[in-house]
Amino acid sequence: MGGFMRHPALLLIAPALLLALAILPGPSCSADTIEPGDPVRGLTLAKSRCTFCHYVEGRGGMIAPPMDKALSTANLVVRDYENRVRDLKQKDPAAYAKAQAVIDAVLAEKDHAKRYERWLDAYLTDTKFDNPMTKMGNVILSDQERAHIIAWLAIKRPTQ
Ligand code: HEC
Repeated sequence: MGGFMRHPALLLIAPALLLALAILPGPSCSADTIEPGDPVRGLTLAKSRCTFCHYVEGRGGMIAPPMDKALSTANLVVRDYENRVRDLKQKDPAAYAKAQAVIDAVLAEKDHAKRYERWLDAYLTDTKFDNPMTKMGNVILSDQERAHIIAWLAIKRPTQ
């Protein structure tokens, strides 16, 4: 404490630095520099980033359901999304309040295919956003990597 007070300039500089960091654009991941998702690159990324746990197109672990199975779960979650949201609201109002903007963006997609992609985007950003009980932790992906992976997952969406 004493040491800190001997350098009162720090008190001024620290907040100024924080402000600068908040204002400066991020390193190449601002929304306008993102290319449209490419499913071929998405598959390559999925094979390197998801196979520790999921079986993906010929290789992978068994810690998690194979990707095809995981995607049919995701598809069903999205088909019944209103119910999932109602459950979350009842069982964990704090988690619902925290995720409400993201959840509303999913609900705003009325087309099923689009809603599925929007949900996956939210899930791969924060797996627990609408279900604190999910067993999958977050995989660190850039916005661009996530866009590619989702482009591949979109092609893989189960049709039923
Ligand atoms: C560290 C292990 C691990 C990694 C890495 C991992 N997952 Fe998962 N994933 C899981 C587990 C475990 C589940 C089952 C979740 C559950 O049952 O609650 C799961 C479930 C899923 C689901 C289904 C959602 C649901 O509600 O069950 C999707 C979709 C999914 N993963 C996508 C991915 C993608 C895409 C990647 C790569 C970017 C990935 N996962 C990487 C462990 C992992």
